[in-house]
Order: sequence, then C-alpha cells, then structure tokens
Amino acid sequence: MTADTLGAFTRRSILTGAIGAAAMSSFPLRARDPRFRVPAVDALTLTVLTDSGTFGPFLPDIDLPGLKVLRAGNGSPPGYTRMSPKALMGEFGLSLLADSRTGDESRRVLVDFGYTAEVLENNMTMLAIDPSSIDASVLSHGHLDHYGGFPALSGRAAKRDRPLPLYVGGEETFCERVAMIGSPPPVMGTLDRAALAKAGFDVRIAPEPQLVADQAFTTGIIPLETTERTAIPTRMRPGAGCDRKDLRSDKRDVTEVTDDGEHELATCYAIKGLGLVVIASCSHRGVLNSVRRAQAISGISKVHMVIGGFHLVRPRTEEEARQTVATFKVIDPDYIVPMHCTGEVFIEEALRQMPQKVIRPYVGTRFVMG
Ligand SMILES: [Fe+2]
Repeated sequence: MTADTLGAFTRRSILTGAIGAAAMSSFPLRARDPRFRVPAVDALTLTVLTDSGTFGPFLPDIDLPGLKVLRAGNGSPPGYTRMSPKALMGEFGLSLLADSRTGDESRRVLVDFGYTAEVLENNMTMLAIDPSSIDASVLSHGHLDHYGGFPALSGRAAKRDRPLPLYVGGEETFCERVAMIGSPPPVMGTLDRAALAKAGFDVRIAPEPQLVADQAFTTGIIPLETTERTAIPTRMRPGAGCDRKDLRSDKRDVTEVTDDGEHELATCYAIKGLGLVVIASCSHRGVLNSVRRAQAISGISKVHMVIGGFHLVRPRTEEEARQTVATFKVIDPDYIVPMHCTGEVFIEEALRQMPQKVIRPYVGTRFVMG
C-alpha cells in the first residue's frame, strides 16, 4: 500500500464510520497541509529504553493483530543474557528507540534520553544498541526526565561522520526551569547547548511539522483544540539558558513564567495498512491534542497506537483522567501504551473499559508493527 492508498484507505474509513460519528464531531479533520507530506512506512519497532518499570523474565510475548509485544530476555535481542549479574534499569524518565523500514531503507530514531546517562547507557548496552547506528533524535521538551540522559551518547554519537540531528520544538527547550513541587521549588536546570554540541548533536529547532530521518514526523507546536488544558508543574526562566529574542513576544520580557508547553513535540509514524503511531512523550499539551495534531497533519484518522506519558496526574485531576479515557474510547486506537507520567487513575480506568487495547510496557519491551 502506498502513502496515497493509505490516505485513500483512511478517508474511506472516515466515510464508512470506522472511527464513528461521535469521533467525527469530536475530532473534525482538516484537509491535509499540502506543504507537508507524511511518509508511510512498511514496518516500525519501538523499544522501551527508559521507563519506570522493569520486570523479570516471566512475561510471555504477545501476538496481536498488527502488533507483536516482545519482552526482553525471551530469546531477544541477540546477546541478551537472562539472569546475568547486570540488569535493565528503570527510572522516572522516558526514552524510546524507533526502528522503521520502507522497502529496503531502514531508519533508527531516538526519542528522548530519559533522566540519567547511567540508565540509558546501561540499558542500551544490555539491549545491544549501538549509539552510532542512530540516524536522528528528537527531544520532546525541555524537562530533565527527558533530556538528562543525552551524555550517554557523548563521544559515541560524535564517532559518526556527521553530527547527529536533534530536533526540538522551540527555543524555550533551553530555558532554565523550576519544578513547582515542594518549598522552595527545586531548580530543574537547563539543557546545555555547548554540551550537546560537544556530545555530537546538531540541534534543529522545528516549531512546524518536520520529517525526521525520512520516515518519522514531528507535530510541531500542538494546538489546544480539545477539552484538555495545559497543566504543567514547571515555570521557565527566559534569558537563563535560552535567548529571549527567540521566545514568543509575551515571554521575552519576564524573568519567570508558567510553562505552557508551547515547544513540546510528539513524534509520529504512519504505518501502511495500520494507521498512525503517536509517541506522546509527556503530553503536557494533552495526549488528545497530540493525537488530534497528528491526524490533522497527516490527513489520516486511523490510530494504531498511542504510546508515552500522558501526564494525567496533578496538576491535572482524576476527573480529567477519566474524561481522557472516555475520549480515547471514541477515537478507538488499536492499542494504548501508558508509560512514565500517565498515572494510575487513567491506567485503571482504561484497563477497566478497554482491557484488550491497553498494553503495559517495561524497559526492554519491543513493540513490532507492520
Ligand atoms: Fe516527563
């Protein structure tokens, strides 16, 4: 199936009610932006490099329509040794590796770096992932639990014959941040541009939808078009780490401002015959807004998988978590993979209402699609 026939398939799905009349009213689709053409891949494998949960060698692999879930240690990856003295590590952070293929062209994209280099480096080694094999990287937003692990690629990324592209959504990625937890609120720090350059990254600021390594795309700025609100537990400091003149005009002349997640990106794929995969890393603009944005950019309504942190914990409320589950039932993705900051209320409610759709990830789990 070509990208064109995938588009035709999804348009037909809309007309025949594949996502339902309610979804149509909740998620009216705009015409695809003619300036941006979303590529469709034949296959995609996502590997969890960093998340909070690990699990022993007791989980079975799962074979589902359009998805195989492979647990680390069940005969893969090659060289992975069960019950070795070393173990996969979990932490409060997120990193996913995306391996895609179109025909005989394969691409490898790293989405986020987790909280610490120690964990990312350990898990990449355990999973036999060579950093120099990565074609491009995306940082979803400027929070420590997503960028902190980037030094794990230091030097090894620089061995490549060119710097490793790193896409971010805006200048505010680099502003110093303060976490609004505790008193006094702890300073989260800044993402150091010089350290990124030294580690071998080529930073590219992409507030518009952006192709990544020919086969993935980012959403650019995610509009707030659903009932979801931005509720971000950090404040940012313009001028500290970031250049005021490159910020939105109302943020330039203040010393500190509540985050609105304007720069946050989701990373997406379109898989032939299956639909969209939306990696919503922390969903500070709302996971539904992220999905809506991916649909609008691509013109594709069918959602195969939504994976990532959905941040349905404070400052969002339990009622908001339940409302998100209700809207997911309307969107009807094939699979929902809640990670990282999603929160127990959403997971419990989604498991209760859509048990066949919810897959629990653990570090090392691979999701094989197409
Ligand atoms: Fe996060």
